[in-house]
Amino acid sequence: MNSPSKQGLRRHVLDVVVLTASGAPSKQPAMETVFSGIQPSGELHLGNYLGAVRNWVVLQGQYRCFYCIVDYHAITQPYDPVEMTARTRAMAIDILACGVDPDRATLFVQSAIPEHTELAWVLSSVAPHGELERMTQFKDKAERHPENINAGLFMYPVLQTADILLYGATRVPVGEDQRQHLELAREIVRRFNARFGETFAEPQPLFSTTPKILGLDGQAKMSKSLGNTIALSETDAAIWDKLRTAATDPARVKRTDPGTPEKCNIYTLHKFFSSDERQKEVHVGCSTAGIGCIDCKKMLFEGVKADLVRIRARGDELRADPARVDAILARGAAEARKVAVETMARVRARLGLPSAPA
Ligand code: TRP
Repeated sequence: MNSPSKQGLRRHVLDVVVLTASGAPSKQPAMETVFSGIQPSGELHLGNYLGAVRNWVVLQGQYRCFYCIVDYHAITQPYDPVEMTARTRAMAIDILACGVDPDRATLFVQSAIPEHTELAWVLSSVAPHGELERMTQFKDKAERHPENINAGLFMYPVLQTADILLYGATRVPVGEDQRQHLELAREIVRRFNARFGETFAEPQPLFSTTPKILGLDGQAKMSKSLGNTIALSETDAAIWDKLRTAATDPARVKRTDPGTPEKCNIYTLHKFFSSDERQKEVHVGCSTAGIGCIDCKKMLFEGVKADLVRIRARGDELRADPARVDAILARGAAEARKVAVETMARVRARLGLPSAPA
């Protein structure tokens, strides 16, 4: 296992990062390729930092990594075009500020590489319609927005498959919510290979054992669309305001009611931001009503501040230098494009299509 101490992150949480789908620790990964994508939702919040990007930072030392800001996925939902460029750049800045290193990983924007949509179309001719209809994320989105059930939403997992296959990625770090999409990607690979000859390897999910980060409501997963997030770039005062009022174990109605830390999202956050001793102190204090929820939150806030100060400082530097960010993304796109073009040349040959014009 790789020690992430360079990032100043807590070891005990990160030690468990690389687990394969079967739960077995991965073997020496050599130069296997990792691909992961994130939507340009504007800025990172604690949920996608702890659940995803922190893992990306660890993986870049172990694999050939492609990290993609998936703007073509984002357009399947309503958004304001005027804001898109800024959202994409803000996301890139936060990812870099968290420690993704352009010298060790390729960071780029999906729409800069036309081969993503090109391969998605090709794959749509082997993707089983019935399976796409069974995707729970599609059904959820269709149910939540019956006025906007577009074909792009339906094709979303096919574009996601194209993202992965363009780079020959065999490892895909994703959350539980993407398990079904990954299974579909594997099915698409099998069908493509059966019809056109062995071309792609089946990508495997890389699930981490990171506990699920709930939102401030303590109910649902932390998510921008639910408005229950803490963004990494928020001020200390704003963060404390949100923490102060965040949901805790509902059993602790009065200060004297003992709680169950395992049922409290604040305790989950302590696991990332507090020392072992601090976590023990909080555990005992909560379960014996020795401390109140506000005491517990104050202790958490100390740890959050210490971690975010570093990320915010790096972010501020990049925000002051947009040209540098654009240059990093341009370099990432050039690296990615090289691989994508080669893959599409192989695919075109398999399909009996002419090669792409130079
Ligand atoms: N659908 C993913 C999400 O919302 C983002 C994504 C797009 C992705 N393409 C991908 C993740 C390819 C992994 C691999 O989280």
